[in-house]
Amino acid sequence: MQISLTLWFSIVIRLSELEPATADDSVQFKIVGGTVTEIARTPYQVSLRLKQIDRQQFGRGHICGGTVISQRLVVTAAHCLYDGRSRNMRSPNDFVIIMGNSLLQIRSVLMQQYNVQKLMSHPQYNPTNLQNDIALLFINGFVPWKSIVRALPLARVTAVVGTPCLISGWGSTINGGTSSQTLQSATVPVISQTDCSAKYGYISAAQLCAGYMSGGIDSCQGDSGGPLQCHNTLVGIVSFGRYCAAQDSPGVYTNVVYYVDWIKQMNRSLDYSYYSGDVRTVVCSKLAVLAIFVAVVRY
Ligand SMILES: *[C@@H]1O[C@H](CO)[C@@H](O)[C@H](O)[C@H]1NC(C)=O
Repeated sequence: MQISLTLWFSIVIRLSELEPATADDSVQFKIVGGTVTEIARTPYQVSLRLKQIDRQQFGRGHICGGTVISQRLVVTAAHCLYDGRSRNMRSPNDFVIIMGNSLLQIRSVLMQQYNVQKLMSHPQYNPTNLQNDIALLFINGFVPWKSIVRALPLARVTAVVGTPCLISGWGSTINGGTSSQTLQSATVPVISQTDCSAKYGYISAAQLCAGYMSGGIDSCQGDSGGPLQCHNTLVGIVSFGRYCAAQDSPGVYTNVVYYVDWIKQMNRSLDYSYYSGDVRTVVCSKLAVLAIFVAVVRY
């Protein structure tokens, strides 16, 4: 890991401003240089939120993006799961996932909301150099495919240099800005490992760069964990960059192809028939069953 110290201080994780959390206080968050889009065009995109904050004001809890990859599975960046201050991993109950919704702060009739049953951060995730910046969220429900939400298939081969890919999210539209109210997207080409390493010091095979050396179009704070979609497959996960859309500073993404085996292995370990919800929900349903039982016995 050869990210130099100077570089490290200007490198920002693309987590939302809510959690300045990183080595850099000037953390920023949203797609820069993109255009307004709708969830129907990126139906696999989710908004990962902190439940408590989102309950106070819908949309305020947004910290990261994510991608639906199976009926109960969402993939995001590992750094999205950690509390920036304590550096501890949060618990499943801290999160809520919003799907099928274009606007950050307004619920549409197509919106779906899920609790998280299990968090699976990559065991070799390194918060210092952001290697293995990938995590899975096992949601507490089945996404109905007849809804607007769709899974994005995992990439099977590494995208060739120059491939046009779509990035999307509610991250900041300017370097240092706040989350975007509208879902934004932009097209960025894949950049070679060599060219990217030349700019960042070291980029591993498990990472991938996309964007423009000239700057202008890039993912930003609040886009972390979101998709880099190429040829209708999930090729990358928004991880970090030096500022946003700056010259000679393309976006760095977790290279999904590299983690397909890990994802499948984790997915196989999950029990798709088991649901454990909010403790409160469970208690309520038990009480309801008890009430019905009592009612039956009385008669
Ligand atoms: C995960 O497992 C489910 C249930 O077995 C399966 O339907 C789905 O295709 C799997 N997804 C991935 C990404 O492996």
